[in-house]
Amino acid sequence: MTGRTSLTIVLAAGEGTRMRSAVPKVLHPVAGQSLLSHVLAATPKGAGAALAVVIGPDHKAVEDEVRRLRPDAATFVQRERLGTAHAVLAAREAIARGADDLLVAFGDTPLISAATFERLRAPLKKGASLAVLGFRAADPTGYGRLLIAGDQLVAIREQADASAAERAINLCNAGVMAFDGRRALEIIEKIGNANAKGEYYLTDAVAVICAQGLEAVVIETSEDEVRGINTKAQLAEAEAVMQARLRKAALEAGVTMIAPDTVYLAADTTFGSDVTIEPFVVIGPGVTIADGAVIHAFSHIVQASIGKKASVGPYARLRPGTSLGEGVRIGNFVETKAATLEAGAKVNHLSYIGDAHVGAGANIGAGTITCNYDGFAKYKTEIGAGAFVGTNSSLVAPVKIGKGAYVGSGSVITRDVPADALAVERSQQTNREGGASRIREIKTKDKAPKGGQ
Ligand code: UD1
Ligand code: MG
Repeated sequence: MTGRTSLTIVLAAGEGTRMRSAVPKVLHPVAGQSLLSHVLAATPKGAGAALAVVIGPDHKAVEDEVRRLRPDAATFVQRERLGTAHAVLAAREAIARGADDLLVAFGDTPLISAATFERLRAPLKKGASLAVLGFRAADPTGYGRLLIAGDQLVAIREQADASAAERAINLCNAGVMAFDGRRALEIIEKIGNANAKGEYYLTDAVAVICAQGLEAVVIETSEDEVRGINTKAQLAEAEAVMQARLRKAALEAGVTMIAPDTVYLAADTTFGSDVTIEPFVVIGPGVTIADGAVIHAFSHIVQASIGKKASVGPYARLRPGTSLGEGVRIGNFVETKAATLEAGAKVNHLSYIGDAHVGAGANIGAGTITCNYDGFAKYKTEIGAGAFVGTNSSLVAPVKIGKGAYVGSGSVITRDVPADALAVERSQQTNREGGASRIREIKTKDKAPKGGQ
């Protein structure tokens, strides 16, 4: 909606007691991102679109999340929870700046879309003072009911104040509203608290508007889009709706999934063309999968980038900071973390590759472990291009395996191996005195060390 300025106020001061959690409600995740992040992603952005978030007094973590997502947003603290109108007025200073449209949304309705905000703004352009988002509830209990006379919205009745006849109405208030920004402050300030709960209800703005002979309208949407989260059960329901949306979008974008219902995606997962995801794969936040990559069954991937035609799994775990080049192969029971594997590198079985750089075409044998942690600090392992690390080797970091080097199976490599060298370094179980001994051989490639196959 070009030309009109907006202020969106997101209410997030609630404690979320029914979540039974120490984490503030709006920070619980759906599809790998906080409820709040989904709402903020849908709000108007760009030039002329201001954002304010109303938070509770002890909600530093919520404030941090707002800063992370939208550094341009203002936060306001509502010190006492006296109702939704009171919460909006916590942002009075921002409202007083007078945007054309004032939008109010709740931080706990993560399925709302950007298009719905725009639909709500449309009636304001035609002179309405308020547009309320409504939906037909399968079970309206607990929601504010929309009272219509003719084609006018005349009031919203909260559950606690509703008559039996009003409770039978299933057209409900979703909680998202768009006000004429020039009039909003004056209208919201007129709202009192003479109701069953003694709260300042934002919903009473409708009655104030009608009393002034101004117009309030309803814009309808589906119940799925406006599910509010108050409990862990509702969080799981929202997750299911979001996953269904993400799977549908992935299929439409050309991703092959033979059992999409078993694949879990994050809201920010990105796919190239001709990607295949086998059943029972879990993808967390921050994952990009390039053209032609295949994710085999039972893999778990978080904050990783997967290169073109790479193959991952089955049963692989890619942890944060994993970057796989073109054609990389990660096989069963392999875990990677903060690891870059250049094009064509292979780690096909039973390995841990952490804090590591693996050069192009290197081959890491089954059971190889980068020993990156000595109990105090993390150290890096560098494996050069074309290196071959024999099975069951431990690479004790910090350590470098030169390019083209060959490490004999069963080695415990504690010192750097030069490029193109052949190395085998093993502990012998016991010597005659009962103590441990080590053998270490590093040779040039024309003479293989004993057992260095
Ligand atoms: C509200 C609506 C109801 C609507 C329903 C939709 C009011 C009075 N009622 O009821 O018509 O059908 O949402 O889900 O608006 N909040 C604050 N400070 C407060 C009170 C609330 O920040 O003092 C925030 C909450 O964190 C939440 C939102 O406002 O994000 C809604 O509050 P909630 O208590 O959940 O209202 P409902 O009773 O669900
Ligand atoms: Mg609610």
